[in-house]
Amino acid sequence: MESVIGQSLEALDTPQAIIDLDVVDANLNTLLDKCRKHPIDLRVHFKSLKCGGLARYLTARGVQSFLCAKLNEAEVLVDHGILDVFIANQIVGPIKLRRLAELATRAKLRVCVDDRNNVAALGAAVLAAQTSVGVLVEVDIGMARCGVEPGEPTLELGRQIARTPGLRFLGLQGYDGHLQMLQDVDERRRLCLKGMEQLVATRRLLEAEGVPVDVVTGAGTGTLEFVSTYEGVTEIQPGSFVLMDSAYNCLQPEYRCALSILSTVISCRPEWYVTDAGSKAISKDFGMPVVQGRPHDQIDRLSEEHTRVLNARHGKCVGDRVAIIPTHGCATMNLHRQCVAVRNGRVEGVWPIEASGRYD
Ligand SMILES: Cc1ncc(COP(=O)(O)O)c(C=O)c1O
Repeated sequence: MESVIGQSLEALDTPQAIIDLDVVDANLNTLLDKCRKHPIDLRVHFKSLKCGGLARYLTARGVQSFLCAKLNEAEVLVDHGILDVFIANQIVGPIKLRRLAELATRAKLRVCVDDRNNVAALGAAVLAAQTSVGVLVEVDIGMARCGVEPGEPTLELGRQIARTPGLRFLGLQGYDGHLQMLQDVDERRRLCLKGMEQLVATRRLLEAEGVPVDVVTGAGTGTLEFVSTYEGVTEIQPGSFVLMDSAYNCLQPEYRCALSILSTVISCRPEWYVTDAGSKAISKDFGMPVVQGRPHDQIDRLSEEHTRVLNARHGKCVGDRVAIIPTHGCATMNLHRQCVAVRNGRVEGVWPIEASGRYD
């Protein structure tokens, strides 16, 4: 595969995940400009990328730190020499806690907690490995997934962390995942600010009670605009803005779609054509993907190995290529073993997607 470097897309077999580096650069610059205007730390979510080569590409362009959802993603980052990593999730059970403690001996790790027994188990695991880990309390600001209630329950957990040897209490995470795709921008802003109010009030409570809070982090691509200027928040943690997808792009058009699946037309009829990339290559959990640059094409079926594209004037022939933009970029990256990084239609890199297909 290395031999395709410098060649055009014609040299690639399909289906193939393609990353347009010019679009990645533009998306990153758009966000970095915002972070410069209203200084706030940026952490990029690796669960959207899953590819060490892409993470290193971003570090070369100014991204200093990453977060992730799973231990395996943190391990990939550390293996790539990225040593400031936040696992923005609960890591539970002795096997995973041993893995986490081992990783903490190699990197500056942070992790979320929302349970007192997990705090005790985490403390014991890092002490056994003779290391330490930074800890944030996950605060539920409306998503109703993980997290403790804002206010007193967060204070109580923060105090426990602060007195547990091996744990460094760093602060709070409040992620508003339930708002990211809310179509009504005013409503998204209103609910987001309401969540931030609870999060920052909790910060103030802890500080008033003598528990210093250095980090207050949250936001995704759909809410970073509101969170990044909110007084008392120190960090934003979006991921989708890098590669984007057609679902997010409808809401956040300032970030363009960098990820596509290059596909070959394998069958044609007057009213439709069929490509070789089905649901095993393109996630359909957020709905049907779209064909890049062909607004009159409509994908109505995505079976395992086939995509059917309706258009009574499609003009396609068997063997033609089309690029399909997924509706959910993160889930699509999880389906591929490698991606091809492209600039101006020429292959610049072939990167393994080390964390794809892994859930541990
Ligand atoms: C905890 C957490 N933070 C940040 C994000 C990033 O969100 P987005 O991909 O919308 O930028 C996610 C996404 O699932 C998340 O779970």
